[in-house]
Amino acid sequence: MYVIRFAARDFRNLEEEEIFPCEEVNVIYGDNAQGKTNLLEGMWLFTGGHSFRGAKDTELPRIDPETGKNLMGTALALDFYSAEREQSAMLQIENGRRSAEINGVKKDTGTALVGKVRAVIFSPEHLLLVKEGPTRRRNYLDTALCQLKPSYASVLTAYRRALMQRNALLKEKRERPSQPADTLSVWNARLARLGAQVVQERQSFTESVAPKISGIYDGIARGRERLEVRYCPSVKGGSTVGEIEELFMQELSRTSASDIRSGFTSVGPHRDDLDIEIDGVSARSYGSQGQQRSAVLAMKLAEAQILTEFSGESPIVLLDDVMSELDRQRQDYLLNHLQGQQVFITCCSPETVELQENGMRFHVDGGAVYPEEF
Ligand SMILES: Nc1ncnc2c1ncn2[C@@H]1O[C@H](COP(=O)(O)OP(=O)(O)OP(=O)(O)O)[C@@H](O)[C@H]1O
Ligand SMILES: [Mg+2]
Repeated sequence: MYVIRFAARDFRNLEEEEIFPCEEVNVIYGDNAQGKTNLLEGMWLFTGGHSFRGAKDTELPRIDPETGKNLMGTALALDFYSAEREQSAMLQIENGRRSAEINGVKKDTGTALVGKVRAVIFSPEHLLLVKEGPTRRRNYLDTALCQLKPSYASVLTAYRRALMQRNALLKEKRERPSQPADTLSVWNARLARLGAQVVQERQSFTESVAPKISGIYDGIARGRERLEVRYCPSVKGGSTVGEIEELFMQELSRTSASDIRSGFTSVGPHRDDLDIEIDGVSARSYGSQGQQRSAVLAMKLAEAQILTEFSGESPIVLLDDVMSELDRQRQDYLLNHLQGQQVFITCCSPETVELQENGMRFHVDGGAVYPEEF
């Protein structure tokens, strides 16, 4: 899919702006604080998600320079090509409430847009995917799986609920050790059954996405380094759901005494990780800034490939501030070698912009957007 036209009124520092991007690479450049990220954020909102910067909806309408307060509302419009036809969407945010319109049909909530416009976003915040602990990496897998398989979302929710209940029981047993032992084995069995499904789905998703991530990384790094991702479960062994369940049960029984002492379940998919290695060593501990950035980018672009296979259409790729810390060859790859999808890339440096060989450029200056075709 691709965006044909995007328009924003009173959104962030954009008063009344409209762009007609090309179907390939669109570079959005300008100095700091001019409105480049705002432009991407406005398009992203059409996915139905929240601001990727964690902003509240009441902060999105333009601040009135006279009063210094946010205006009451903002309006965004997106014309796009998807499902072999031109479509149009509108999104209004009034007093922090979203309403939408899709192909002329009014909807009461912004969530009505979910699934109509698909996009993948990379923002500097996503670097934490490599830099931080395992929670974000588990979320990366879970978010992708929930989109691909709605049944996964319900298994995951049921697992989390069972985990909370088992943890509550562990604490209760710590306080009152005289309780009967059998209730814990009931929760062990439930946790093992649900957890095994979560682990197996994550494992098989990782197996399908890993070669894509490695392949994209290879392109970014021009074959100079090799990136590998691997699912790293806290309960080792087993490939079928039944095998994993059995091993998980054994681990839960083995660790129950120490779990009661700590009041916390020490094994299971809530403790698993996704190992990311570059040339055989952990990207988190040893990767350079550029390597870590390239790794996250590869993971995001692989997510776009998975979505393409799933829905038959490539999502819009939004890359915010991706260029800094990357050498010329890596920048060249992003500007000139991402084919078959519409890409928006923001950057500040004029030297980087010069590397772009095809597509369109937009110069953003003080909330005004100027197209530059070449
Ligand atoms: N609701 C709002 N109303 C008016 N201006 C806003 C609002 N929200 C943010 N801004 C302004 O928008 C500007 C930041 O825009 P943006 O984050 O898009 O910058 P940028 O061009 O991406 O810069 P950088 O290169 O530093 O990332 C700031 O000047 C900020 O004060
Ligand atoms: Mg920015």
